[in-house]
Amino acid sequence: MITGAARGIGLAFAKSFTREGALVAIADINYAQAKSAAAALGEAAVAIEVDVTNQKSIDAAVAETVNQFGRIDILINSAAVFTAAPIVQIERNDYQKVFDVNVGGTLFTLQAVARHMIERGGGGKIINMASQAGRRGESLVAVYCATKAAVISLTQSAGLNLIKYGINVNAIAPGVVEGEHWELVDSYFAKFEGKTPGQKKKEVGESVPYGRMGTADDLTGMAIFLASDEADYVVSQCYNVDGGQWMS
Ligand SMILES: NC(=O)c1ccc[n+]([C@@H]2O[C@H](COP(=O)([O-])OP(=O)(O)OC[C@H]3O[C@@H](n4cnc5c(N)ncnc54)[C@H](O)[C@@H]3O)[C@@H](O)[C@H]2O)c1
Repeated sequence: MITGAARGIGLAFAKSFTREGALVAIADINYAQAKSAAAALGEAAVAIEVDVTNQKSIDAAVAETVNQFGRIDILINSAAVFTAAPIVQIERNDYQKVFDVNVGGTLFTLQAVARHMIERGGGGKIINMASQAGRRGESLVAVYCATKAAVISLTQSAGLNLIKYGINVNAIAPGVVEGEHWELVDSYFAKFEGKTPGQKKKEVGESVPYGRMGTADDLTGMAIFLASDEADYVVSQCYNVDGGQWMS
């Protein structure tokens, strides 16, 4: 089950996991896009409608995935939203929404799937999408950075709590990744820093030690590893996959 898989990094995970032989539930609030993504992947994928800020919706999505496939072995929490603003312009509604999706969505989807994994006898892999934004603050990105720091912390606590059931919880921290998410990030920097459209994206791409922005496909190898038996002894970790941007 992959949340936020209708596009972007979640979709790249869905494609790579089907190539590895997995059956994939593409779970997203954008059901129309999830359906076309699943249709393109054929019989190995189904679309599931989920709003990760709504507990009934999470429970129904987990039940539907189990109904379709019999069990869930791997969960990737990729659904997230982005926001940016100078500290003095942050609005409570925006703060609440971004925390509800990025932190509450990750925690309560993880919880629902962990309950299922424990009920069926234990064992499983859960991967949360963190970010280099969770490693340190950024002047204009306080709320989103705080949500991703929370995702890293939740990964540590959930990993420690669930490993006794054979459930590994780990996270991936990408750097800057091409896609619609970064088009939005770029537009915020154009607004608040007076940059021309595309300028921030060009600057961050050039600052990556590897020499370019990441692509969603750059992240799939780490996800496949963390979902595999080879990662059984990896517990509560957050791995940077960012072309060398951050070291920790
Ligand atoms: N793209 C980057 O540069 C980058 C960098 C670091 C971390 N990340 C993280 O990686 C993950 C994937 O990023 P992406 O670039 O694919 O983002 P994206 O914006 O392209 O995709 C996010 C998906 O989440 C879905 N979604 C949003 N709210 C939802 C909700 N309430 N319930 C269910 N689904 C919802 C959207 O419909 C969308 O399909 C996110 O957690 C993001 O924070 C991305």
